[in-house]
Amino acid sequence: MRTSEKVLIPIATKVLSAVRETPDGVTLTLDLRLGHSPGQFLQLSVVGIGEAPISIASWGGDTTTVHVREVGNVTRALAACRAGDTLYARGPYGNGFPMDATWRQSLVLVGGGCGVAPVRGVIQYILAHRGDYEDVVAFLGYRNPAELLFQAEIERWRRDIDLHISFDNMDGGCDFAATQGFVTDLVRQKEIPGGGSTAFLCGPPIMMTVASRVLMEKGMPEDRIWLSMERLMYCGLGECCHCMIGGKYTCVDGPVFRLDTIKEHIHE
Ligand SMILES: Cc1cc2nc3c(=O)[nH]c(=O)nc-3n(C[C@H](O)[C@H](O)[C@H](O)COP(=O)(O)OP(=O)(O)OC[C@H]3O[C@@H](n4cnc5c(N)ncnc54)[C@H](O)[C@@H]3O)c2cc1C
Ligand code: FES
Repeated sequence: MRTSEKVLIPIATKVLSAVRETPDGVTLTLDLRLGHSPGQFLQLSVVGIGEAPISIASWGGDTTTVHVREVGNVTRALAACRAGDTLYARGPYGNGFPMDATWRQSLVLVGGGCGVAPVRGVIQYILAHRGDYEDVVAFLGYRNPAELLFQAEIERWRRDIDLHISFDNMDGGCDFAATQGFVTDLVRQKEIPGGGSTAFLCGPPIMMTVASRVLMEKGMPEDRIWLSMERLMYCGLGECCHCMIGGKYTCVDGPVFRLDTIKEHIHE
């Protein structure tokens, strides 16, 4: 067995709040206290519908936050939950971002769309351990202002980290500091912390590929770039083989992989 029996059994958890943040995305706060690393995920289930892997979008505290984007049956059922409803959760699973191994380093965070959810957990961890990291610069990109996640927290984040936001399309206007263009253009334009920094990326595969290339052009070696990958999953335990990437299990060896160990397989 790769994991304890305990995390095989889903536990009932109450939905404390459900906030629709985007046209197809809902943020759920669950009455669940986890001792997890930022970047790990849960298997969340709705009785009679099914189960889906969902990244943990928070760190610390007595509750757990997830952001769910409606793409099919399970995610629609999760997004339809209201405060007081019961969900089932097993986990946390996966390795998460290497927060301990990057202690005393500068960090570059790049999140795209729904991929900003696990980055929120990283940011919360950094804010709680701010003195343990050097410069922290975050680039968050969305298709348009209606897709922005966690808007209520952005000003708080700006106090402690160097935060940049971009929208591919800003035609409808935007009432706070952001630029128009791909998030990868933003990474190209802005200074990133020099020698010894590490990057954490989460978002669509094409975004992570281009962002990695830009970071390497700026001098960051590929063994300092970490990507959070998504694959179809079932067990989450390294038993069913559905989540393989290049001979590794996304559920137990990932979902966070170092670029030099995964680069041939990003687009599989
Ligand atoms: C480690 C990990 C973390 C994740 N974190 C989040 C998260 O924080 N929030 C969130 O909303 N979703 C997240 N996902 C994706 C989520 O698990 C899937 O969207 C979900 O399983 C879809 O289930 P469904 O029954 O709603 O849709 P389905 O009916 O199963 O699928 C609907 C459509 O989405 C496609 N699809 C399903 N799963 C994936 C996938 N993993 N990658 C690409 N396309 C897929 C299907 O091919 C189909 O076209 C994560 C996935 C993984 C592996
Ligand atoms: S999901 Fe079953 S082995 Fe990874």
